[in-house]
Amino acid sequence: MSTQLKILIGIIFTLLTCIPLAAIAMNDLGHDFGLVPQDQPTEMELRAAALSGRQIEVGADLFGQYCYSCHGKNGEGLPGVAPALNRKDLFDGTHQRNVGWPGSINGFIKNTIAAGRPIQSRPDLYSAKMPTWSQEYGGPMRPDQVNALVAFVMNWQGKAPEVDAWPVAVASGTPRPTATAGPSPTPAPTVAGLFRICQTITPQYAGKKAPYKFDDRAVLAAGKQIYDEKCAACHGPTGRGDGVAAAALNPKPANLADKNFMNTLPVDCHFFAIAEGVKNTGMPPWKSLGDDQMWKVLIYERSFSGVQ
Ligand code: HEC
Ligand code: HEC
Repeated sequence: MSTQLKILIGIIFTLLTCIPLAAIAMNDLGHDFGLVPQDQPTEMELRAAALSGRQIEVGADLFGQYCYSCHGKNGEGLPGVAPALNRKDLFDGTHQRNVGWPGSINGFIKNTIAAGRPIQSRPDLYSAKMPTWSQEYGGPMRPDQVNALVAFVMNWQGKAPEVDAWPVAVASGTPRPTATAGPSPTPAPTVAGLFRICQTITPQYAGKKAPYKFDDRAVLAAGKQIYDEKCAACHGPTGRGDGVAAAALNPKPANLADKNFMNTLPVDCHFFAIAEGVKNTGMPPWKSLGDDQMWKVLIYERSFSGVQ
């Protein structure tokens, strides 16, 4: 083949790859120059919308698993437990101004989800603590999952109702509603006599043994700290499945202080549940904590019943 022919073929291919790009550009330019009606979205806008649509769906799924127990299915909040999120002042900047947040609305929501609020703003109003969600701060979620949640919450902007989630003064003597979650009934053991989570244990976890003694005080103290911070909201301060967030959970966490139940949850299966979480329930996977922290919290959880 002559060099000229090669060059010619090269040029033809280059031109061919330009056609789809040109089509997009024409559409977008047509938009800019009034050839395409302004109310019709450009190709680029359509693509961006499709992408963020998928992100919102992912966020909705995560919200339905990990957030609704405190914030309600549609972000309407749970009186006495956690504030509504689907509310006007969170999206028009009023709330951010009130709390002195200097950044963007988006940034405020992202920061709250990622870092949580280890210190409660108004324990008189809301009894729960906003957990930490991002792995960056020791929570269970990846950055893309946090972003999807932000996209989902932001999706309420524009049509959020006016709700006074942070009233300035509470009339003294007004009874504060609280979640009334009694101890949850112990789930029925499965045919094999083990709790249902154990039926799906994978070889990677089967037979695992704790690397610490069950009465190691330092381990128990470390485990308690993790438990109080990350698990108690759902599992309850003493493991009875009666945390402030448990009222809205279905299924609810079991009673970890019940010896009979704990006999159906052997150590390897217990560790498996913590590491991988339980799909389609409020129980998130915690393996980002690392084995050592998971074992410590496991040993603390088993101290509720004394079953080793
Ligand atoms: C255990 C209950 C609980 C769970 C579960 C929970 N939150 Fe929260 N959340 C709270 C509480 C309580 C607050 C208020 C914190 C404070 O300032 O004291 C809050 C605050 C927030 C705020 C800020 C609202 C404001 O008015 O300042 C956002 C945003 C938020 N949560 C999003 C989420 C998302 C997304 C999830 C799920 C990944 C989630 N929360 C899960 C209890 C919870
Ligand atoms: C947002 C709520 C929530 C948080 C936070 C949470 N869990 Fe769970 N957990 C659940 C629910 C709901 C179940 C029940 C799942 C089922 O019935 O299959 C569960 C199940 C479990 C089980 C199996 C026994 C049982 O109760 O069914 C263990 C063990 C467990 N969680 C440990 C932990 C540990 C350790 C932490 C903290 C590192 C934690 N959980 C944090 C909601 C939560």
